[in-house]
Amino acid sequence: MRDVDDSPRYSFVKGNICDPGTLEEAMAGHDAVVHFAAESHVDRSIVGSDDFVNTNCFGTNVVMDTARRLEIGRVVHIGTDEVYGSVETGSSKETDPLEPRSPYSASKAGSDHLVRAYHHTYGLPAITTNCSNNYGPYQFPEKLIPLVILNALAGKPLPVYGDGSNVRDWLYVDDHCSAIRLALKKGRPGETYNIGGNNERANIDVVRSICRILDELRPAANKKPYESLITFVADRPGHDLRYAIDATKSTTELGWKPEETFESGIRKTVRWYLDNPGWVQGVVSGEYRKWMEKNYSERQ
Ligand code: DAU
Repeated sequence: MRDVDDSPRYSFVKGNICDPGTLEEAMAGHDAVVHFAAESHVDRSIVGSDDFVNTNCFGTNVVMDTARRLEIGRVVHIGTDEVYGSVETGSSKETDPLEPRSPYSASKAGSDHLVRAYHHTYGLPAITTNCSNNYGPYQFPEKLIPLVILNALAGKPLPVYGDGSNVRDWLYVDDHCSAIRLALKKGRPGETYNIGGNNERANIDVVRSICRILDELRPAANKKPYESLITFVADRPGHDLRYAIDATKSTTELGWKPEETFESGIRKTVRWYLDNPGWVQGVVSGEYRKWMEKNYSERQ
C-alpha cells in the first residue's frame, strides 16, 4: 500500500485468517479489529464453494475466537446485503430474516451468525455491518464495474448476464469506509448496521453509464461508441434479481450519510482506472489471468 507505507501506524502481515497463530501475532496489543477478510466473488463461489466455507465461516470463527482470547475491546465484521436474499419490493432491514441463495452469500450469512453468537455467548463486543455493492479505485477487475471499464478499453466484449435487468445498489468505497469508521466508534456491540448508497441501478444502465463516460474521456480509436461492445451472455446460475438495503439505522444511530451520487462516483472511478494503468497491469497478470481464461472462456 504505497499510500501508507511510510506511516509508523501501519504494518502488514501476510497470512491466512484460518491460522490462529498468525492472527494472534497480528492482533496482539491492538484495541480494535475490523474484519474485512473474505472470499467475495459470487461467480467463483459457483465454480467451487470450499474456499468460501473455509475462509468466510471457519476463518471468521478463528478471528472471533482470537479476539475473544485476546480480549479485544471492539470488533467490526464486514458483511453483505446478499445475506437477505433477493428482494422484489421494498428494502432489507437489519431485522429481516437471512435468506442467502448463493454459496457465497450462504457462507457470509454463516459468518454473520457466528459473530452474533460470539457476542451473545461470550460477550465479545462485536458489531456487524452489511453493505451493498462497493465500487471505486483499486477494485479487482473480476467485479462488474472494473471489468467493463478494462474490457472496453481493450476493445473486448462487455459481458452482461441475462437481459441486464438485475438491480444492485452501488456504494462508493470511501462512503463505505466512513460508515465503518462510525460503526467502530459509535456502534452498539451485538448490533447490525446496513450500509447502502441509495443508488439502485439495473446492470445494463451501469454498463451504459460507463460506456458514455469513456466515449467522452477516451473515445475508441475506431470512433465507435463503446456500447457497441455490449454482449448479452448466459445468466449467472441462481442470479438474484434485486438487492436493496434500508440504511436508516446507520443514518440515525451513527450519523452516517454517503457523499457520492452514482453519477459522481462512477465518473471518479472511470478516471481512476484511466489514470492507473500500471496498477491494472500488475493485477491482471499471472494467476488471475489463468483463472479467468479457464472459468470464463464460455461466457466472454
Ligand atoms: O451486494 C454486495 C456484494 O456485491 C458483495 O457482497 C460481493 O462481495 C460483491 O462481489 C458484489 O456481488 P455481485 O455479484 O452483485 O457483484 P458483481 O460485480 O460480480 O456483479 C454485479 C452485477 O453484475 C450482478 O448482478 C452480476 C452482473 N454481472 C457481473 C459480471 C462480473 C454481469 O452482468 N456481467 C459480469 O461480467
